[in-house]
Amino acid sequence: MIVVRELGELRAERRRLPDPLGLVPTMGFLHEGHLSLVRRAKSEGRSVGVSIFVNPSQFGPQEDLAAYPRDLPRDLRLLEGEGVDLVWTPDAATIYPAAFQTWVTVEGVSQGLEGERRPGHFRGVATIVTKLFHAFEPQRAYFGQKDAQQAAVVRRMAADLDFDLEVVVCPTVREADGLALSSRNSYLSSEERRAATVLYRSLQAAEAAFAAGEREADRLRAILRSTLDQEPQARIQYVSAADPESLVELQGTVIRALLSMAVFIGKTRLIDNVVIGG
Ligand code: PAJ
Repeated sequence: MIVVRELGELRAERRRLPDPLGLVPTMGFLHEGHLSLVRRAKSEGRSVGVSIFVNPSQFGPQEDLAAYPRDLPRDLRLLEGEGVDLVWTPDAATIYPAAFQTWVTVEGVSQGLEGERRPGHFRGVATIVTKLFHAFEPQRAYFGQKDAQQAAVVRRMAADLDFDLEVVVCPTVREADGLALSSRNSYLSSEERRAATVLYRSLQAAEAAFAAGEREADRLRAILRSTLDQEPQARIQYVSAADPESLVELQGTVIRALLSMAVFIGKTRLIDNVVIGG
């Protein structure tokens, strides 16, 4: 496994790798969710590239950039074990030199949900993902359904900017009790960790109601809310039943929906989602 820091080295090493190359962009502190993307890339291509970069421009001023967990030696061991070919671990000055002033902004699909509560977040994501696409020139790029809006934003951007690659979205990997794996779960105390299971429980409650015939968007949102309200440690930021592609909030009868939420458990902000209706 080749590990490089400089863009020039990355490009040189990339050129030596056989196509098709699958890229898995990450911010490190890897878990089974990230590794599921690596395994999928490995199974579908001839080469796998991974980036590890805690991208400052996607964090808001009040967010957890400084506290974001990091463990590069462990990450590299895990990636080596998966048979990854090339890892890029750039520093912030490589990605954003002092004179940097070009940003990628995706409109509609970036605007609700996470985009509304985290202004500038998807500008940061779209910009770094563009730079990663240019650096690795992958044939496929792998993202997790866990960050459903991010996946939708990247899909839109790749299509709009004519990137010659396929965006592959992989299922959310969960703990046995349903909690979606996330690097941010490491912030939770043991009591908060227990409370955090309410996110998936609420999604399951709405999913069960849908399976039993409930089709009203408002009712589905109400089921998410009322389940979350049963957990005193959970503070809802939003719950949503939206169109899975456009992310526009649904009203009236639901045929297909992305049910999603952001919930604070203590100081830790967690997100989760499921798609209902096939
Ligand atoms: P990060 O949070 O490290 O996640 C990297 C990738 O892993 C994302 O595509 C994310 O959706 C996926 N992922 C995270 N948890 C997952 C889970 N439980 N199951 C399946 N996939 C999961 O997302 C980012 O980094 C950044 O925004 C990035 C795209 C790297 C741009 O900086």
